[in-house]
Amino acid sequence: MKRAKISIVGSGNVGATAAHWAASKELGDIVLVDIPQVDGMPQGKALDLFQASPVEGFDSKIIGTTSYEPTANSDVVIVTAGVARKPGMSRDDLININTGIVRSVAENVAKHSPNAVMIVVSNPLDAMVYVAWKASGFPTKHVIGQAGVLDAARYRSFLAMEIGCSVEDVHALLLGGHGDDMVPLPRYTFAGGIPITQLVKPDRLEEIIKRTRNGGAEIVGLLKTGSAYYAPAAATVQMAESIIRDKKRILPCAAYCEKEYGVGGFFVGVPCILGTDGVEKIIEIDLDPTEKKMFQSSVDHVKELVATVKL
Ligand code: LAC
Repeated sequence: MKRAKISIVGSGNVGATAAHWAASKELGDIVLVDIPQVDGMPQGKALDLFQASPVEGFDSKIIGTTSYEPTANSDVVIVTAGVARKPGMSRDDLININTGIVRSVAENVAKHSPNAVMIVVSNPLDAMVYVAWKASGFPTKHVIGQAGVLDAARYRSFLAMEIGCSVEDVHALLLGGHGDDMVPLPRYTFAGGIPITQLVKPDRLEEIIKRTRNGGAEIVGLLKTGSAYYAPAAATVQMAESIIRDKKRILPCAAYCEKEYGVGGFFVGVPCILGTDGVEKIIEIDLDPTEKKMFQSSVDHVKELVATVKL
């Protein structure tokens, strides 16, 4: 079987950690790309990771580069390039600088890997995935934003801590943008098949939802010099795995919604089936009036954010 090829643009913490998770799962050969100004960093991290392979026992070619040629014909391209948050900054504060970076990355991805599925991780996510789609000219199903898997993972972690159960048994769904108005859905959250509302008291659930919404900022506040990377990278690689292995996982992702949920042509977090062809299906679930209202306000925020993008 031909090995898959995964390119990761940005060799900072999220990019390098994604390379690590992808290699340890033997997802395919990996190309770590960065800009010429940091020449040596993608090459050094790639070589270091490759040298771990005899110990860990994974067979992946891993190379680092500052040009796009070695990325040619990738199956999946993960875009982590851009500036991360510092304490006191919101994701939206990064919009001007990261728009230019993501635009140029997406143009290069389209040029060298026209058939790839592109997973965007750069912030502010809901706007950057839109920029990447516009700049690449890719079909909508080949451009996906990573946010929901991470936000749901944080929610699941906090719930498992609260219940004192395995994280594996907590399943949750979260919709909307990757911002403070993301929409965790307790009605669609279960631990071992038991509705979460039977296991966690309403006031504690409210606190956990609040902590989930603030999950990225909590890490930024602790690190002080950057933002989270283990969980964002793991979430991204779970999406890449579903695409490369055609697993057809149902994962919450920022996908292009036109008629779906009445969004009208923006990328927002919704449950998707991910397979070889990218977003193979967007699943529309029933929302009650309160959930609908929260989802709509999150979508409105995404639209306002995208309106400020200077393409
Ligand atoms: C976070 C950043 C990466 O949520 O958006 O941690």
